[in-house]
Amino acid sequence: MSVKPVEKLANFVNGEWHRSESYTVVRNPANGEKLTEVPLSTWKEVDYAVEAAVAAQKQWALVPAPQRAEVLYRVGSLMKERKETLSQLLTMENGKVIEEARGEVQEGIDMAYYMAGEGRRLFGQTTPSELKDKFAMSVRAPVGVVGIITPWNFPIAIATWKSFPAIVAGNAVVWKPATETPLMAFELVKIMEEAGLPSGVLNVVFGSGSEVGTSLVEHPDIRVISFTGSNDTGRTIASKCGEQLKKVSLEMGGKNAVIVLEDADLDLAVEGILWSAFGTSGQRCTACSRVIVHENVKEELENRLLQQMETLSIGNGLDEGIKVGPIINEKSLMKIEEYMDVAKQDGARLLAGGHVLEGEGFTGGYYFAPTLFTDATKDMRIAQEEIFGPVVSLISVKSLAEAVEVNNSVSFGLSSSIFTKDVNRVFQAQRDLDTGIVYVNAGTTGAEIHLPFGGTKGTGNGHRDSGLAALDVFTEWKSVYIDY
Ligand code: NAD
Ligand code: ALA
Repeated sequence: MSVKPVEKLANFVNGEWHRSESYTVVRNPANGEKLTEVPLSTWKEVDYAVEAAVAAQKQWALVPAPQRAEVLYRVGSLMKERKETLSQLLTMENGKVIEEARGEVQEGIDMAYYMAGEGRRLFGQTTPSELKDKFAMSVRAPVGVVGIITPWNFPIAIATWKSFPAIVAGNAVVWKPATETPLMAFELVKIMEEAGLPSGVLNVVFGSGSEVGTSLVEHPDIRVISFTGSNDTGRTIASKCGEQLKKVSLEMGGKNAVIVLEDADLDLAVEGILWSAFGTSGQRCTACSRVIVHENVKEELENRLLQQMETLSIGNGLDEGIKVGPIINEKSLMKIEEYMDVAKQDGARLLAGGHVLEGEGFTGGYYFAPTLFTDATKDMRIAQEEIFGPVVSLISVKSLAEAVEVNNSVSFGLSSSIFTKDVNRVFQAQRDLDTGIVYVNAGTTGAEIHLPFGGTKGTGNGHRDSGLAALDVFTEWKSVYIDY
């Protein structure tokens, strides 16, 4: 191991580290080695953190926004200095290959600088009043204390997409990271502290979703919940927030497709499919898990995909050159494996992979072979449900209209992509694909931080992470009328 993780973690509340009573072990999914121990905190620790955040937020909101932004500039620089250490720790706890980990950390750096800039542009509006001697304006006011709940698959990027706009807008944060990936939370909090963020503005409480997550969602002093994770958890959170009329931003699953038309550059399409289906072992909300291909090029595409899949090296993502790392844990591995029988029973034909990888190079870890099914149809479970593994299914169609229909036939709407050289079809597709993100001649992954990130239907509830849209989650519009 080139970088050594901290041995035992603690919660970070009001600028201090607090050990918890109960702990669980965190292991490297690549080899099962123990990495660290993470607190399993209780509602009392959440309560204490919220109390600290309430007090800190009152002062933080009074700091001019450009000065709040200064902290994020320093955060960006520190993240840049530590990029390699952060990336290695990220690979150890999450399993994604080092090249992708560097990409994820870079997203966090980009977000720091981007949101730091927004600290100088928290624009409101002035509007001519209907009445004489009256001045009318609207300003963005902070919401108050924000509860952030994040998943394990992007443990640092997603945390920055949420906490940076929240903080620059004058809120305080209580953050519950996923217990599988606590090291990124620890490192990010250290950086924020070093960058001069006042005590209590960012607090971290580690623990389970059922205890710490639920306590955050139900806490009366938390004014907004920003959640990224699975659809089931999102629905539970949404209904609890609904009961309390609490603002909630939900970013959930995806069932993303690459469309390959008959005029597509097939080599380019194969590259896009390969990277977005098997990168991060398919454990991305934006991962491509369906390929909707024109029947005239189906066979050719299958052959080229199979050829390229053979070149994918699988193993511990810390080894440079490895392209596909492990699955996060045994439970996820078993879930992926179960889908193999489901797919075959439904009539899909297995072309490659389809099994757990064991033996030399895989000992102690959780590996699944990159898997390709063909002759799938749009209603099969593998074409409808989020598998969250390196499994992709080919569905053949006769036209762009049918491709769009198949793309839109799922309950999710995060990301989609189309490969074609026909500019008219490009414009038709971007209009008709019912997803929050559309790619043209690129795979379904790789969203950048300056545009809104999120999806339609079962993927989200209309809010967005990233881009200017993120500020809408963490601010309230306040209208002010001044008579003079
Ligand atoms: P998950 O829903 O199991 O967990 C996400 C977070 O919610 C964790 O911190 C977990 O502890 C917490 N949690 C669990 N139960 C809770 C409850 N009852 N109340 C409050 N919090 C609770 O998801 P996961 O397995 O960690 O992540 C994978 C999922 O996340 C996939 O579905 C993926 O598509 C989705 N995801 C979506 C996006 C997006 O932006 N749309 C991005 C990344 C991941
Ligand atoms: N930026 C990441 C992607 O698009 C989340 O996959």
